[in-house]
Amino acid sequence: MKKFQHALLASLCAVALPLLSGNALAQNTGKIKVGLMLPYTGTFAALGTAIENGFKLQLAEQGGKIAGREVEFFKVDDESDPSKATDNVNKLVKRDQVDILVGSVHSGVAMAMAKVAKDTNTLLVVPNAGADAVTGPMCAPNIYRSSFSNYQPGYAMGEVMAKKGHKKVVTITWKYAAGDESVKGFKEAFEKKGGQVVKELTLPFPNVEFQALLTEIAATKPDAVYTFFAGGGAVKFVKDYHAAGLRKTIPLYGAGFITDGTLEAQGEAAAGLLTTLHYADNLETARNNSFRLAYVKAYKLQPDVYAVQGYDAAQILQAGLTAVKGDVSKKAEMAAAMQKMTINSPRGPFKLSKANNPIQDIYLREVKGRENLSLGVASKQLADPARGCRM
Ligand code: BEZ
Repeated sequence: MKKFQHALLASLCAVALPLLSGNALAQNTGKIKVGLMLPYTGTFAALGTAIENGFKLQLAEQGGKIAGREVEFFKVDDESDPSKATDNVNKLVKRDQVDILVGSVHSGVAMAMAKVAKDTNTLLVVPNAGADAVTGPMCAPNIYRSSFSNYQPGYAMGEVMAKKGHKKVVTITWKYAAGDESVKGFKEAFEKKGGQVVKELTLPFPNVEFQALLTEIAATKPDAVYTFFAGGGAVKFVKDYHAAGLRKTIPLYGAGFITDGTLEAQGEAAAGLLTTLHYADNLETARNNSFRLAYVKAYKLQPDVYAVQGYDAAQILQAGLTAVKGDVSKKAEMAAAMQKMTINSPRGPFKLSKANNPIQDIYLREVKGRENLSLGVASKQLADPARGCRM
């Protein structure tokens, strides 16, 4: 009887083991499914396209693969609409069963993505949206950001404007997480250095009816204005501010999104604007030069900060997944490996914080012609405080 049981067990194992190891192998062989959830319509459409271009350029440099594995793409236009975001991300996770999520641009959309990524333990790389919560209370070993937190450019500009001697400032932005947090970061640094935010003006995202607010700025007569807008909204705001004649009397400053990827459309209205951001067009490094040349060759377009962030989202995935031999199930091992890595970005090398957000130089930039030129580093190796992150 014992002999019979052993024989049965042996034959069961002979059938089951190859099946088991076949399953395990599927985790790190075969195609990796990547879900791109980005805006391809609306005020942030150009930003979504630049991110996808940058991401695909990095892959092309690696033979079209991530950590040696072929890639299959699934795409959703999220329209920068937070009310559709949970359904959209579930299409990628549940219907398409992607291994990796890449997205998005809008902070509200990214927070919905982070919730689903956390609940389903899906690997997520955020290639733009700065929502502080993503690498704050929502932080997790499967959630990475290749861009910035809203706090970072805002905080750097608070120091710059205080140093310039401005005392009373009005802020103006869209009323949603990115605008609120950009102003909060700005205010934290500016008020620490003795400045005062005398009025916080907002309008709903993605409205561009700025006239009444510009009239209010003129009537308030602050020393300067700090702003956060991006994409199509940034183009309109800079043109309207200029047309209202305010540039002559009330200098305008902003987080760098106000002039990134927008200069062709803004033309003379943007000349001389000072902004803070983690990238500038003229960084004279071999890394930035080769990136810019490759991007122009591939797309016949100049790259911007969004293209850099897309490129670096792919670099993070290459580095992290190579460390776990392409096995997307090994989230904790990947996160541990990423803590030691340096990403060789066109912006300059950066490391990830404990919360998986870039610790990076924030440049002070000036618009000259069609470029955002670095005037130097405004905040060296600035880390997001990652308030509320427990990891
Ligand atoms: C955001 O919503 O986080 C965002 C959008 C565009 C540019 C920068 C930040």
